[in-house]
Amino acid sequence: MSAARGPLFELRGVSYAYPGGRAALDKVDLDIAEGARLAILGANGSGKSTLLKLIDGLIFPAAGALQAFGRTIDEQALEEVNFNAYFRRRVAFVFQDSDIQLFSPTVFDEVAFGPLQLDISPEAAARRADDVLEMLDLSPLRDRQPHQLSGGEKKKVAIAAVLAIGPDVLLLDEPTNNLDPRTRAWLLDLLLELGRAGKTIILATQDLDMAADFADAVVILNEGHQIAAAGPAMLLADTELLVAVNLLHEHWHRHGRTAHSHTHSHLAAHEHEHLPAE
Ligand SMILES: Nc1ncnc2c1ncn2[C@@H]1O[C@H](COP(=O)(O)OP(=O)(O)OP(=O)(O)O)[C@@H](O)[C@H]1O
Ligand SMILES: [Mg+2]
Repeated sequence: MSAARGPLFELRGVSYAYPGGRAALDKVDLDIAEGARLAILGANGSGKSTLLKLIDGLIFPAAGALQAFGRTIDEQALEEVNFNAYFRRRVAFVFQDSDIQLFSPTVFDEVAFGPLQLDISPEAAARRADDVLEMLDLSPLRDRQPHQLSGGEKKKVAIAAVLAIGPDVLLLDEPTNNLDPRTRAWLLDLLLELGRAGKTIILATQDLDMAADFADAVVILNEGHQIAAAGPAMLLADTELLVAVNLLHEHWHRHGRTAHSHTHSHLAAHEHEHLPAE
């Protein structure tokens, strides 16, 4: 089964509410092309993680429909053993919290786990795990216990574990949280390289700089759980939009006897003059 030309993921009027009726997404229309580098942005609670979970087939639309690889993604589709295996091999999710992703006694076991589920020999699976560890410079951690690693190291291992399956689509939820600048740069380079290799990469993030450096397309959710804007990464230069969806916040500053506001972001320069205090 190969993706027919056209979007890899197609969401039409997708809404979702968690048990108890709490709305999490409202009538989302979205096409995600094969090979896209997409950043999903929005304030806390706007629905970013929910959108990723829907795309990963962990939850299903309450209204509307989601198609992936030319097929409607619902309980029924993912209960089919063959389609489930096909889908899970192609779409991988790096959770925000690495602790819920990592469960193996060693880093090697963690990274070999996925390949061992594939239709290849145990030797080939082990080789693949070692290759991925090598590629991500993680070989020195090979025999460590994942739970004893630092947050950034855990994130790297979680990414290695999903890459070892060879997915076409990588979903990452707030991957730069708690990463130091060097690891963040490492992740950005890795994602750009995976993008050049043709992977479809979708990340949810509050990190405007990461989104600007990484994405060729962005989706911005508002606090009503709707798409406020979707389009090229240039949208991130729209300060008014970012303020409206609470991705930027306005600070009031008092300088001398004058007061003024300015927005706070790394993208938008702080274009204001501080008057000398009298
Ligand atoms: N398991 C759950 N049960 C009930 N409500 C939930 C659950 N998970 C999320 N929600 C609610 O759904 C809405 C969307 O949450 P979601 O986690 O998708 O937002 P988010 O944009 O990822 O936020 P954050 O930036 O804080 O990660 C929020 O109002 C949230 O309270
Ligand atoms: Mg989230």
